[in-house]
Amino acid sequence: MDKIVINGGRPLYGTIEVGGMKNSSLPILFATILVKGECVIENLPPIDDVSSALSMLQSMGAEVRMLDRTTAAVDTRNIRCGSAPYEEARHMRASYYIAGAELGRFGRAVVPLPGGCDFGQRPIDQHIKGFEALGASVSLDGGYIRAEAPGGLMGDSVFMDVVSVGATINIILAAALAEGVTTIDGAAKEPHVVDLANFLNACGADITGAGTDVIRIKGVASLSGASYTVLPDMIEAGTYMIAAAATRGSVTISNVIPKHLDSVTAKLREMGAEVEENDTSVVVSAAGASFKGVRVKTQPYPGFPTDMNPQMCVMMCLAEGDSQLREGVWDNRFRYVKELVRMGAQIDVEPKMAYVKGVGRLTGASVKAVDLRAGAAMVIAGLAAEGTTEITDIYHIERGYENMVEKLKALGADIEKTEAPESFRSAAV
Ligand code: UD1
Repeated sequence: MDKIVINGGRPLYGTIEVGGMKNSSLPILFATILVKGECVIENLPPIDDVSSALSMLQSMGAEVRMLDRTTAAVDTRNIRCGSAPYEEARHMRASYYIAGAELGRFGRAVVPLPGGCDFGQRPIDQHIKGFEALGASVSLDGGYIRAEAPGGLMGDSVFMDVVSVGATINIILAAALAEGVTTIDGAAKEPHVVDLANFLNACGADITGAGTDVIRIKGVASLSGASYTVLPDMIEAGTYMIAAAATRGSVTISNVIPKHLDSVTAKLREMGAEVEENDTSVVVSAAGASFKGVRVKTQPYPGFPTDMNPQMCVMMCLAEGDSQLREGVWDNRFRYVKELVRMGAQIDVEPKMAYVKGVGRLTGASVKAVDLRAGAAMVIAGLAAEGTTEITDIYHIERGYENMVEKLKALGADIEKTEAPESFRSAAV
């Protein structure tokens, strides 16, 4: 099994560049299904989820060319409805965006139910409610989402019962080519939603209000190919901000939008790290710092992101005082806690709350990456800990972080990826 091995206790120093945002690259790639032409998408992060999305589009009939490591040309003129491959879709939550995009382009959709990280129940009732409001009939059977609007989709008002990034994006996708105007009240305000809307507008869509809680989509007759650059990944940036603080180093995190990082910046400052904001970079310094305990609640944007919950928990373990971490988005985001406990953490968990005793230091141990962001948190814990940490199940990390090991090595970390022998790999497949 592939592993990451870290000899911890070295402060990180230097500059690290952040790639494009995973959580908007995937919906943008699936949004190309709506376009009858070629789109050139730049600043795609070279991560496993992006490769899977491109490969899914190819299996559906798209022509995909990589123009360089981070730029793909996607031509969806000959895409076939209902041909999303089950094997890849079931590993990726974002594959459900194919439903909104197919419904928008073909008036029907057949998509395998999605997979992704296990945070407990991940319902899709709000997506369905949105599709139905636009005139589609929707059913879930045999592991597939099936939607049909034989008379075409008609814009309407959709009132969301919960703030959902996924449902907001799926409804935008379905509405972009519908007749008339769709309004989404209670929309998610995440930068990923803004990125997707900006991409569609570059292709000729008429979407206003993205980034606020009311989004208005005036359907247009068709979308044409465009070039678009994906926004920087705020979660990758936040992860390295916490790695810099946790190791008591000093790191410039470049190619970021500091505004997107406000909630993380505020908490790091409250704990005792220094954060300097520049136009397109932030510098996090914590040499010799002793960290204070804090209270954090994860919430929809602009609140503290749920995708920074595990990384923040590591910081809380390294504090002198006690902290509280309340999960406000998912039912079961604390599966990683038992791994941190192996490293000396003292954490009491209730379903949506962690009481973290600041123990000041962690010690190396063998731990598992239980999901993508939890895996990143294990890396941070290993970098800050005394001794050696071995992390298994690192495929979760590779789904969402580009070259994490190499990027951290360049900052002075003693970190290696050890690959399983070829014979073991073929036996494991
Ligand atoms: C969420 C996060 C996103 C993060 C991703 C992966 C929010 C608002 N969204 O996005 O930032 O990148 O997880 O960690 O923080 N829900 C329903 N019915 C639905 C859809 C969602 O009840 O049809 C609920 C979910 O159970 C959850 C909440 O709404 O409690 C947010 O879900 P949603 O935003 O859709 O999840 P993601 O798009 O995966």
